[in-house]
Amino acid sequence: TARPFAYRNRALSCDQTSLATLAATHGTPLYVYSQQHILGRLALFQQAFASRPHTICYAVKANSALAILKLLAQNGAGFDIVSGGELARVVKAAKPAVKKTVFAGVGKQIPEIDAALKAGILLFNVESESELALLADRAELLKIPARFSLRVNPDVFAETHPYISTGLSAHKFGIDINAARAIYRKAAKSKYLIPTGVSVHIGSQIRAVDPFGAALDRVTSLIQQLKKDGITLTHIDAGGGLGIEYTDAPFDPAAAVAAYAKQVLEATDHLDLHLLLEPGRFLVAQAGALLTTVVNVKKNGNKTFVITDAGMNDLIRPALYQAHHQILPVRQTSAKSSPVDIVGPVCESGDFFARDRDLPATKPGDLLAILDAGAYGMSLTSNYNTRTRPPEVLVDGAESRLIRRRETIKDLFAPELP
Ligand code: LLP
Repeated sequence: TARPFAYRNRALSCDQTSLATLAATHGTPLYVYSQQHILGRLALFQQAFASRPHTICYAVKANSALAILKLLAQNGAGFDIVSGGELARVVKAAKPAVKKTVFAGVGKQIPEIDAALKAGILLFNVESESELALLADRAELLKIPARFSLRVNPDVFAETHPYISTGLSAHKFGIDINAARAIYRKAAKSKYLIPTGVSVHIGSQIRAVDPFGAALDRVTSLIQQLKKDGITLTHIDAGGGLGIEYTDAPFDPAAAVAAYAKQVLEATDHLDLHLLLEPGRFLVAQAGALLTTVVNVKKNGNKTFVITDAGMNDLIRPALYQAHHQILPVRQTSAKSSPVDIVGPVCESGDFFARDRDLPATKPGDLLAILDAGAYGMSLTSNYNTRTRPPEVLVDGAESRLIRRRETIKDLFAPELP
């Protein structure tokens, strides 16, 4: 299924559940996700890589809801985490999946490293030589050997927004691939470091799949050099990054993942390695929408502004990456469309969801759905302007359940000491 949000009898639904009903029950802004769609996307990934031993380590940062982590773990996923907080989420939601969890990030701190060692994660994706030295120290102190991959920087360009591109030497991520061999050789002598794999991640929302193959070609030649040095690795981590279609253009997710898998499998097929994959967006983005209510429609000069009860604190992608999200009226109308700016109530000119977008005439009280908001939506929310975060609902066909309640002002005040 390409998209779970569709009109049924002129009412926008998520699977068989009416969005107007969900809005009436839970209020807006409200995040809505389709469980069937998430599982469908996970299955697509699993099928595309079925010919090879692999683990899908879902990137927790894309959507960190405990209920979604639990769902993915129950269906075979492991996790890619980037903080002690995300580790705690995995432990809480799906403890057995900790042993299928990889830990990346350029600024890991001692308490986070210690917690991950004690929890028994699969491996650390190490991003610098100094971090590797710290990991060796902590492992020795705790007497827990540390499995690691070096996250190498392949210096491969992949077309995407500059803020989410990561595979060039100009970026802060990873270790120069040309320096990696010497670091593995040194590490192999350490009693508490276990060289386990190599990892690479070139960026996010990447639509053309060739760069994935190019990056892995560089990684596999490193693996062969290491073999000559007597260092035999067992894992290769291809990172995440596979993009989705944010416009209404036709999109075939099965074809997208098949083309991606072809690149990954061909680049690595001569190696007898367990494959790790870290998809985030591809699994959850299109499963989710942000429901919002129009609070006002105003004109300034010849511009029309549709003001919603959701703001940039609820979904920051348009403001931060000029990201395009489709926006649909929940009640399908034949009203004439005209270009409007769809904006939030936050006190920033960057607080917009769409500019000069054709939208059927709308009035206060109407519901809109901002599509493809399941990834990097809720996980990037903030309380800016002392706005409470939206609740989240997980839909399963005609059923639905609240997986996070709306925050209250009392929640926001809790940590403060006036
Ligand atoms: N692995 C690593 C090491 C990553 O840094 C990321 C994402 C992923 C996996 C998952 O990538 P995905 O499959 O979701 O593309 N906030 C931005 C995206 C930031 C991506 C950060 N890293 C956005 O809303 O577009």
